[in-house]
Amino acid sequence: MALRAHGLTKRYGSHNTLVRAVDEVDLEAPTGQTLAIMGASGCGKSTLLHLLGGLQRPTDGQVWLGENRVDTMSERALARLRRDDVGFVFQSFHLMDELTAVENIELAALLAGRSPGRARKRALYLLDRVGLADRAMHLPSALSGGQRQRVAIARALSNEPLVVLADEPTGNLDTAATLEVLRLFDELHAAGQTLVVVTHDARIAAVADRVIAMRDGAFADDNRLVGTVYDGRR
Ligand SMILES: Nc1ncnc2c1ncn2[C@@H]1O[C@H](COP(=O)(O)OP(=O)(O)O)[C@@H](O)[C@H]1O
Ligand SMILES: [Mg+2]
Repeated sequence: MALRAHGLTKRYGSHNTLVRAVDEVDLEAPTGQTLAIMGASGCGKSTLLHLLGGLQRPTDGQVWLGENRVDTMSERALARLRRDDVGFVFQSFHLMDELTAVENIELAALLAGRSPGRARKRALYLLDRVGLADRAMHLPSALSGGQRQRVAIARALSNEPLVVLADEPTGNLDTAATLEVLRLFDELHAAGQTLVVVTHDARIAAVADRVIAMRDGAFADDNRLVGTVYDGRR
């Protein structure tokens, strides 16, 4: 199992300001599964991803990434887990503006202790894999939104993470760029990468192995039918 959560809960505030952002969620994602999580704004999708990837600590419940228990980890171990075992992809890309595409990607490998030569080689390989070999020396400002997101996906893959967690990765993209990113996720899926994608886009959900609808911090509906387009009503 790549990812597992039990009774996962995150509350904000207290008494009359209490928000149950994530409310006793149970989840199991086998290695290689693509899981789509859909739901209205504010239902807890981002918080859930943050809990799964060790960006935030739960109020209650347990999370395992591979063999590692995440919720009780030390800060030091968490930093390492986020660096080595999780690849994050955000709606707004979060690239470093002053670094080129290849530098943005190799940074994660350098921080993980790879030699500069190996980090560069891996970054160039990943750029090629996302179809941007000819954009290695471009700054993010010289790339389109779809290209920036593909650089961000390459960066997420740089340390061969157990799981890629993507939070509305096509939320800022037009249709053509969305299709590029969609094709890339499809390729990652085919290559056996475990993926959890929060999305409003039914086209991404349609290629997922499993679609979970979230409401008020909890799973409202779970569609395990492979290849079935989620119709939003069931
Ligand atoms: N730092 C915070 N403090 C208080 N409430 C928060 C905080 N972050 C998120 N929330 C609340 O938790 C709920 C879930 O938020 P979020 O996970 O961002 O939802 P989504 O990603 O589905 O839009 C919302 O009601 C939001 O207002
Ligand atoms: Mg969100």
